[in-house]
Amino acid sequence: MTRIWAYLACLALTSQAVIAQDKVECSKDKKCPENKPCCSQYGQCGVGAYCLGGCDPFSSFSIESCAPAPVCKSKTYKFDNLDGIASNQRYLGDASKSDWVSSGKPLSNNGDLLLTMPKNSVGTLLANNHYVWYGKATAKLKTSRGAGVITAFILMSDVKDEIDYEFVGTDLHTAQTNYYFQGIIDYTNGENVTVEGGDTFSQEHTYEIDWKPDSITWSVDGKPRRVLNKKDTFNKETNQYNFPQSPSRVQLSLWPGGLETAAKGTVDWAGGYVDWNHEDIKNHGYYYSIFSEISIECYDPPKSAKIEGDKSYIYTTKAGTEDTIKITDKSTVLKSFLATGTDMDKEPPKSGKPDDEEVNSVPGISGGGSGAHGGSSGGSSPGGDNGNDLGPSTDFTGPGSNGGSSGAPSQNERVLKGSIFAVLVAVMVLVNM
Ligand SMILES: *[C@@H]1O[C@H](CO)[C@@H](O)[C@H](O)[C@H]1NC(C)=O
Repeated sequence: MTRIWAYLACLALTSQAVIAQDKVECSKDKKCPENKPCCSQYGQCGVGAYCLGGCDPFSSFSIESCAPAPVCKSKTYKFDNLDGIASNQRYLGDASKSDWVSSGKPLSNNGDLLLTMPKNSVGTLLANNHYVWYGKATAKLKTSRGAGVITAFILMSDVKDEIDYEFVGTDLHTAQTNYYFQGIIDYTNGENVTVEGGDTFSQEHTYEIDWKPDSITWSVDGKPRRVLNKKDTFNKETNQYNFPQSPSRVQLSLWPGGLETAAKGTVDWAGGYVDWNHEDIKNHGYYYSIFSEISIECYDPPKSAKIEGDKSYIYTTKAGTEDTIKITDKSTVLKSFLATGTDMDKEPPKSGKPDDEEVNSVPGISGGGSGAHGGSSGGSSPGGDNGNDLGPSTDFTGPGSNGGSSGAPSQNERVLKGSIFAVLVAVMVLVNM
């Protein structure tokens, strides 16, 4: 399990703890029950958004529980506005309407995308809704800075294949590269790359992941800095290649690795504890990383792919290897936050309250009705429909603007609520790592 994954898992667990629901955890050895069939990226069972991006087909009730995944789309993203970004409380799987799904608080500033981490919050995560099944992902970015603050640009699949760039805020001259096959921990997979020509916070650099069926190349500012060949990842015991090979989403994140109660190893790796009185918090109201452009270039699917359409990827067996993945014409869109991969047209509850208040429909949020189709109370989550909705917004106090010492009042209100999560996240990090 990677650190970011562990962190996200903890975030979900704590969110569930906050709303005191009967949480159901899942793993490969403990699949979700039929009434909450989808195992989220965070290892929790639910319906609706639990069945979308990150839904793990191996830990879900059945391999069909997760909704099919939208196919790759070649596109260059700029961020003059946040129109292409949907909050995770709104997105229902229609990647033609929203290219990205977010949690936390992304902002647009002078054409750049800002990922923000306000005081005592757990930061911001953006995931692209179009999966990549081999391709080139490029990000032009400035990292955040400061102890305990992590900026990440990664590719991650629903079965936890992963290709990473991670940046620790105390080392502004290093890009940490890493990869995982199906979440298997191997401490020899990481490699550090020294970034030349200006530190990663004040200078924008171009970071590229060139992911081919037989190799991965990490390049910085156009120069290849690390190459991993698939042939060198063969595991004789399992007779398979421990090489990332399943459809993956590009994810951008800013998150606190250095929380008071986190495991010591994580805090050390993160460069120490987060200073919530750091000058970036004082001057802008948040830590931030700046992405000016993301581009995704899709390659052809692997030769062994089973091709029966051109809309979505599905897993056909629990091997999760590239030869077992199929391209189909199946829809990727859920009708409501009560729908699942095996009941995609399930209607939202008609009354204000869902029949079953216990149902988990957005990882971290309860209530089947919240979101585009529901119009219901959104259950009993701490903020309900308003306070906890840190969806895309254009109100900001950007790094370029002078004098602002914090965000808008509404933002402060939200931050306050976010801090409840942060404390519990910290506790759960401790428990889980
Ligand atoms: C990379 O550098 C960090 C310090 O910035 C260190 O903690 C980590 O162990 C290094 N990783 C590798 C693989 O050398």
